Amino acid sequence: MSVKLFCILAVSVRFSMEFSDWRIPANTIMCSILQNTKCEFKQNWTNAEGVKRHLDAGKPEIQFFYFCNENRTENCDQWVDENNVPIESSSKEDNLVNETFTIEKMSIQILGDYVKIPQEKGDKKLIIE
Ligand SMILES: *[C@@H]1O[C@H](CO)[C@@H](O)[C@H](O)[C@H]1NC(C)=O
Ligand SMILES: *[C@@H]1O[C@H](CO)[C@@H](O)[C@H](O)[C@H]1NC(C)=O
Ligand SMILES: *[C@@H]1O[C@H](CO)[C@@H](O)[C@H](O)[C@H]1NC(C)=O
Repeated sequence: MSVKLFCILAVSVRFSMEFSDWRIPANTIMCSILQNTKCEFKQNWTNAEGVKRHLDAGKPEIQFFYFCNENRTENCDQWVDENNVPIESSSKEDNLVNETFTIEKMSIQILGDYVKIPQEKGDKKLIIE
């Protein structure tokens, strides 16, 4: 094989590998704080207790949002920390309406990964970047 052809092959393989990295993985929803004014996390929430998020820069790093229902009436429909203590600095407007969990305000503090709790097969993950 000629050196030139080898180079072309190597470059195109590298390019396609990078290209597959850029693609959004299956079952992932992306929101960008540069493009979105709010973020909609749509999926089947039938068995959901809430949402867990792992933040890149926001504090605390791990936060939970439990939906209010007949079994949970306290510290619900708001972001809490791992000790179930409400996080005062977090948005009070985020909530689940029908099949959409909406994060109302984009900011650097909310960048990170969001998953449903409990996590089930086929669930979607949300990334805010
Ligand atoms: C949503 O999930 C529930 C529980 O897993 C399931 O019974 C239901 O069929 C699902 N709904 C849709 C629209 O997929
Ligand atoms: C509340 O708890 C009961 C008993 O554990 C359970 O059957 C029911 O599905 C729960 N309801 C919700 C909305 O999680
Ligand atoms: C949620 O669903 C109910 C019943 O299907 C509907 O009446 C209501 O308009 C929906 N709300 C939103 C905000 O889409």
